[in-house]
Amino acid sequence: MKITVVGTGYVGLVSAVCFAHWGHTVTCVEADQKKLSVLKTGRSPIFEKDVEEFMRRYAKQLSFTDNCRDACKEAEAVFICVGTPEREDGFANLKQVFAIAGEIADSVEGDCVCVVKSTVPIGTNQKLDRLFFSRAKKGRRIEVACNPEFLSQGTAVHDFLFGPRVVIGVEKGRGAKVLRNIYAGYSGKLIVTDRQTAEMIKYASNNFLALKISFINEIANLCEIVGADVETVARGMGADSRIGEQFLRAGIGYGGSCFPKDTKALHWLAKYYDYEIKTVKAAIEVNENQKIRLIKKARRYYPSLEGLTVAVLGLAFKPDTDDLRDAPSLQNIAVLLQEGADVRVWDPTGYERIKSLYPHQITCCGTIEEAVDKAHLCFILTEWKQVKEFDPARYLKLMQRPIVIDGRNCYSPDAAQKAGIVYDCIGKDRVLPPNWQEELSRPLYLPLDGQEPSLAPHLYQRRA
Ligand code: UGA
Repeated sequence: MKITVVGTGYVGLVSAVCFAHWGHTVTCVEADQKKLSVLKTGRSPIFEKDVEEFMRRYAKQLSFTDNCRDACKEAEAVFICVGTPEREDGFANLKQVFAIAGEIADSVEGDCVCVVKSTVPIGTNQKLDRLFFSRAKKGRRIEVACNPEFLSQGTAVHDFLFGPRVVIGVEKGRGAKVLRNIYAGYSGKLIVTDRQTAEMIKYASNNFLALKISFINEIANLCEIVGADVETVARGMGADSRIGEQFLRAGIGYGGSCFPKDTKALHWLAKYYDYEIKTVKAAIEVNENQKIRLIKKARRYYPSLEGLTVAVLGLAFKPDTDDLRDAPSLQNIAVLLQEGADVRVWDPTGYERIKSLYPHQITCCGTIEEAVDKAHLCFILTEWKQVKEFDPARYLKLMQRPIVIDGRNCYSPDAAQKAGIVYDCIGKDRVLPPNWQEELSRPLYLPLDGQEPSLAPHLYQRRA
């Protein structure tokens, strides 16, 4: 089939190369000239496994342009894959979605299905339907279908081709037929429903996963108090197939371009209808606190962070991506700097984004060794393979004081004990070398007023 994909971010580009893999011909529309020129040379502007390989393999079926109107003219289906970022007031910003819809309405010359892949608030597809009804060229029929994505960064191509379900929200028969043809190469479960339900499946899925993470993070915090081990607790819970073992990894909270935005969007959508979705509100609150959990832990060793050298291992919101959107590292670095620490960061995907935020205030290091060298404290914020494989004994050798506070539980307590370091992770007993035990067993009456890191503007106050 002839498909147009508008937007070549994680969702758009991954969808495009996978449609090509299934034999379709795909035109991708990208307005950003810098990205477009990269795409035209056969390279991927996003850091995502398999995408470049697929671009090479299916080069003959893929083309890239900035001319949306031309690309939509004869398409049988146009996929909207543009961003729906968080607005100042917490709602999803639909400006780009409606701008593209306008272009589609003005250019489509045959019958066409406009498929919304961007995550949009419930009711948006309905609004687009109205727009096309009023604005499409005389005699042309543009049907709207909702086809949410369930792609995790790092495994997006695999998720697209082999994910457990494809959801299609349609109003009339033709849209379903076109989408069934497009997904003919997919062998998993196809769920065909109405558009509002499809929109809700997307939000409910992301919100439920966020909730699961916040739940296990609270259990982890409690584990630390009562002396239980959160990883074993998660394993014990997950063995029950009604609960499932995935998304029960305790840590420093969820980040990325999806969960933080989608939880807030659902919260505000409910509020708009005068309904409070309490579970989601709690998940958001727990997550905000969890993100700065390591700062709170650091105070057990250093009541003041002023003048300390702090190594930060990992900037990305999770491994195998270079994405810093809503990454816990941003909040942690902001607090460390605010408190006067000398921050040395390491991440294997480069420093472009962090340098644009802090051009002079932080040191970007080429290796883990360089980052931890002579540091008073080390924060682990992303569970990169390189960090997991880094011998804990090296911290003892290199650091000024071997205090490793791990937000991603990269090491076993046994390995840390053997290495002779202070190892404070999430939801487990901390490990202390014998000579540290006496001092650290004496209570410190903290937190002191005014010493708690300040959080971003409170979530539930509209910032507008
Ligand atoms: C997420 C969903 O997993 C996808 O299904 C969805 O399509 C996508 O959002 C989206 O809406 O576009 P993604 O944001 O790429 O995908 O990343 P995840 O792997 O879900 O991780 C999100 C965050 O949760 C990360 O910060 C990760 O570290 C954290 N996480 C995940 C945990 O803290 N614990 C876990 O057990 C799992």
